[in-house]
Amino acid sequence: MGSLGDTPIAVVVIGAGNIGSHHAELVDGSQEARLVAIVDPSDNGQALAARFACAYFHDTTSLLRSGLFIDAAIICTPNKTHATIAGLLSEHGVHILLEKPITTTIEDGIRLLETCRHNNTRMCVGHHRRCHASIRAAKHALDSGAIGRCIGVSGVWVALKTQAYFDGPGHWHRDSSGDILLVNLIHEVDLLQYLLGPIVRVHAERAASTRGYRGEEGAAVTLRFGSGVVGTFLALDNAASPFNIEAGTGESDQYPYTAQDCYRLFGTKGALSVPDGRLWQPAHLDQGRKSQWMDSRLNINGKEVYGEQLRNFVAVVRGSEAPVCTGDDGLSAVVVCDAIRESIQTGLPIMLQGT
Ligand SMILES: NC(=O)c1ccc[n+]([C@@H]2O[C@H](COP(=O)([O-])OP(=O)(O)OC[C@H]3O[C@@H](n4cnc5c(N)ncnc54)[C@H](O)[C@@H]3O)[C@@H](O)[C@H]2O)c1
Repeated sequence: MGSLGDTPIAVVVIGAGNIGSHHAELVDGSQEARLVAIVDPSDNGQALAARFACAYFHDTTSLLRSGLFIDAAIICTPNKTHATIAGLLSEHGVHILLEKPITTTIEDGIRLLETCRHNNTRMCVGHHRRCHASIRAAKHALDSGAIGRCIGVSGVWVALKTQAYFDGPGHWHRDSSGDILLVNLIHEVDLLQYLLGPIVRVHAERAASTRGYRGEEGAAVTLRFGSGVVGTFLALDNAASPFNIEAGTGESDQYPYTAQDCYRLFGTKGALSVPDGRLWQPAHLDQGRKSQWMDSRLNINGKEVYGEQLRNFVAVVRGSEAPVCTGDDGLSAVVVCDAIRESIQTGLPIMLQGT
């Protein structure tokens, strides 16, 4: 639909809510991309398009019929609309940064990846934290053996969501397609797989409900990774806590910065907490638990995480970089979350396909 060269790529933002408005700001401020349109049927859309003086469309079909020149789209709509909108754009040759989850079902995800392959369109999935300096530093530390062989991981994402969150446009967070499993836990699953490799078995317990909507409010999950690492993860969106990655990184103005850690990784030569990057190594490994500890910090320096994600996306569209988070990565996180939901519902451990 567009043409690529050294000129800024033409980007449309689809969905002008909470995260779409942030993406629009970043594209507008980028030297590498220009914001050409906003698509959103609500008043948000028109207001955002007016703010950035770009074209406005009510829906994706009208955008595509307009003949407007576009290279790429950032899709920031409610989860269950992702598959249809992304498929349509790919059929028109548009490259996509698709917010997570890639799709709400495994079947839709497989079909969408096939559509992108068939149309030769590129995709990044919005698991932006892979671009976070703290995560990159943790990955480097793990891969370079800072804690020896990783044996176990313990993680937590706990926050109290407000009623306004569930009363938002379309009430889509009340439903299972927009609940904690597919909005928050999926990010954690992606990061854990990024750091430790594929998860091959899960077993989950449902958390108590305080709201009574169809969506889950949390789970306690045990995890087995293909590498042999085992772990536990507690995810709750109905308990008051400063222990979640948004608060730990300070990346979002909706979660005041607490600097607390939310993952602890344990290895044969030490332990690492994330995202604060605190590395604990015994001064004398041969003394085991009796050794004094050396407590250091990883070197965490980086740019604003969504800006870094956009930089990667532009490079992917230009063909000069691979996606930091591919469509296959995004689908793999959906597969794990689907298994966690199945385990919650059946009470059984679930082996992941192909394992
Ligand atoms: N990566 C992140 O940090 C992050 C953060 C928040 C949300 N998200 C993801 O981004 C997506 C949007 O979340 P949000 O919190 O911004 O939601 P939101 O409810 O604040 O906004 C969604 C917007 O999409 C619009 N919309 C609905 N259907 C549409 C359609 N068919 N075409 C165009 N616009 C449509 C709505 O009118 C609304 O303005 C979700 O998939 C969510 O999981 C990612």
